[in-house]
Amino acid sequence: ELIYNMKGLKDLGNQLKEKMGIREVSLVEGDSDDDDIIVKDMGKKASLIINSLLEDDMKIGIMGGTTMACVADEMEYNRKVRNIMVVPGRGGLGEKLEIQSNTIAAKLAQKLNAEYKLLHVPDNIQPELLEALRENPQIKSVLDEIKKIDMIVFGVGTAMEMAERRGMSELKKDELKLKNASAEALGYYFDSNGIPIMHTDSVGIDLKDINSIKHVICIASGKNKAEAIYAFSKYYKDYILVTDEETAKEILKLN
Ligand code: G3H
Repeated sequence: ELIYNMKGLKDLGNQLKEKMGIREVSLVEGDSDDDDIIVKDMGKKASLIINSLLEDDMKIGIMGGTTMACVADEMEYNRKVRNIMVVPGRGGLGEKLEIQSNTIAAKLAQKLNAEYKLLHVPDNIQPELLEALRENPQIKSVLDEIKKIDMIVFGVGTAMEMAERRGMSELKKDELKLKNASAEALGYYFDSNGIPIMHTDSVGIDLKDINSIKHVICIASGKNKAEAIYAFSKYYKDYILVTDEETAKEILKLN
């Protein structure tokens, strides 16, 4: 029966990969909406994928969120790779400390016996101030590292949920609604056609930089995220998606 299940899951993964047109889909059994264990399983799976792709001297970027926190928690220690650098993909995003990209980057670095750099930049500050901060030598050195990453690990959220969680102003939330915002990933908001429509007022990874990142790994699940995950795949396709069985089925139902 186990072999049958694994074959079923593989078929489902292949169907999803074909529908989304992305590099790879890796599924875990079950429904993360019902059981937190499933998120841990995804974290474990992501850990295996990350470790299988890691090479000496690589630079890794990791974003924030509860899923990323779980990936860092479930990450297996890797003492074989040398000279790894971990950087957060973004400064804070108005999230709780536990799920900020900085915290998660430090934890991941510990697991990989790696160096890390942090981005200490507050959120939601005026654009002019942000520009000035980018020129600060310490911040600039981290932003330069982010430009050189070989791997990015990130989550996807539903746009309005993320806007809410990060304390976005009513005015900006209205703008998101008006523009049919669907997904949030990497600090950017996308509409249902995968078109970037807004970015957060923070410093970090530049969306167009993902084109030159060798390994792009997205971990996201939840039936309510199906549309968001699908929307992001319309923006970018050369990545590995780790999700769960029920989310996969939900995405397959979408037009
Ligand atoms: O950008 C997406 C969000 O960080 C996802 O957050 O893993 O807590 O749902 P989450």
